[in-house]
Amino acid sequence: MSESQAINNRRTFGIISHPDAGKTTLTEKLLLFGGAIQIAGAVKSNKIKRTATSDFMEIERQRGISVATSVMAFEYSDLQINILDTPGHQDFAEDTYRTLTAVDSVIVVIDVAKGVETQTEKLVSVCRMRNTPIIVFINKLDREGLDGIDLLDEIEQKLGLKVCPLSWPVGMGQRFKGVYNMFEEKLVLFQPHGKQLAEEVIEITDLSDERLDKNVGTAAADELRSEVHLVREIYPSFDREAYLNGDIAPVFFGSAINNFGVKELLDCFVEIAPGPLPRHAEEREVKPSEAVFSGFVFKIHANMDPKHRDRIAFLRICSGTFNRNTNYLHVRQNRKMKFANPTSFMASKKTVIDEAFPGDVIGLYDSGIFKIGDTLTDGETLHFKGIPSFSPELFRYVDNTDPLKSKQLNKGLDQLMDEGLAQLFTMELNQRKIIGTVGALQFDVIQYRLLHEYGASCAFEPVNLYKACWVSTNNKDALKTFESRRRKDLAKDKNGKLVYMAESAWALKMAQENHPEIEFHFSDEF
Ligand code: G4P
Repeated sequence: MSESQAINNRRTFGIISHPDAGKTTLTEKLLLFGGAIQIAGAVKSNKIKRTATSDFMEIERQRGISVATSVMAFEYSDLQINILDTPGHQDFAEDTYRTLTAVDSVIVVIDVAKGVETQTEKLVSVCRMRNTPIIVFINKLDREGLDGIDLLDEIEQKLGLKVCPLSWPVGMGQRFKGVYNMFEEKLVLFQPHGKQLAEEVIEITDLSDERLDKNVGTAAADELRSEVHLVREIYPSFDREAYLNGDIAPVFFGSAINNFGVKELLDCFVEIAPGPLPRHAEEREVKPSEAVFSGFVFKIHANMDPKHRDRIAFLRICSGTFNRNTNYLHVRQNRKMKFANPTSFMASKKTVIDEAFPGDVIGLYDSGIFKIGDTLTDGETLHFKGIPSFSPELFRYVDNTDPLKSKQLNKGLDQLMDEGLAQLFTMELNQRKIIGTVGALQFDVIQYRLLHEYGASCAFEPVNLYKACWVSTNNKDALKTFESRRRKDLAKDKNGKLVYMAESAWALKMAQENHPEIEFHFSDEF
């Protein structure tokens, strides 16, 4: 296969949802279609297997959440499809934001009964900032839920998406008969109380066709006719360009657990979803078709094997071909390195690969050389954009409780921050360390991992802070004045960048008013 064929064959996407909407179930059904797994339940049992071999994962299991973001690849319809899984738990939202930098499109899963939930709103807003193409899958049609048109209204209002339904449900809950696939003009019948092994599909291009009445009953057929008529009037017809620009989002209805509506979704996905898209570096735009290799690390997964303190850095390939045992430039460290065992995640198994192409995500064994956002290239100095650190929401002082283990503590903290688990700030005045996180759960995870992986123990102490603001200015004198007046509120982030630790919204406002030459940023990418 030529390199350009390999690029055109890749579809790399993420599934996002509020927890419990059905992301794991849908992922599993997609993998079943792709032959990547043989039995239902494999994705979940895989989760449990992992927890059994790792103490840290035990925390996740106990808390009933999946912290890990992983990659699952499978083949379907001559394409290689890479699903990047994202943690649903809101405390790990940053992990998900970063994973979204590595996808070319997303599928959003919404529970028909619950409608648009908070986590979905946040994640979709990140996708919209980048114009990521979005397909919506409305799940759990086997249960009673919101009226289809009301739900689409809610999606448009809360998610700010223009929708374009490509399938429409025939009833729901007890009365759920199936979906009419408006994309391919066919009726797909749902078999209640049975395992939906093969879907019964009837080609119906004209909705007045009486086979519709025969199969779903006249009342349901009439309801479908009037709803589809209305839907076709209200919503724009599908336009691939608009979808690719992130302007309209196709919508499908189904029931993932019953494997229903999933094939329609997948068949449409492979037809319309984009292949690898260009990526923006600070220096220039990088196209996937470029001959020379480049890629960036968007995720570091630690402690896959608790016996060795190994980590895997997940690298998204942006251009060129990645080859095993070939020297590449680690741009931040300005040194060449090669990788003997790069892995792919085909069929949920890790395998060593010799080469990989744009759109692929590979795992690189990492002994502590990588940080989130690091770039590897053939030699060019590139810094890929879009993996900023945002101001954390929660802050705590971290204190060493075992003075003999301060080295271990510092090393542990360093490595956990490199993974992007939380952010570390060192106060200028007294060098005290503050950890900032998105959710409270990270503090438990940090404490646990420091102890179990690094043998270091720490305690957290509350600190009253509102936001961490990265500061910048072109005026050196203004910066000096600011630094001398606000010394007690200043810290350095892990990369040595100056940060103003605002105690309150009011304190930040005062600082902005008193130092108009200084710019305050809520993220480190400005
Ligand atoms: P998540 O990854 O988005 O958090 O959701 P997940 O797939 O784990 O699904 C959450 C719950 O919703 C699961 O039930 C799952 O079986 C159920 N579910 C998924 N799709 C459908 C559907 O189409 N219809 C119905 N009725 N339920 C669905 P659970 O009881 O939490 O877990 P389990 O015991 O079934 O594994």
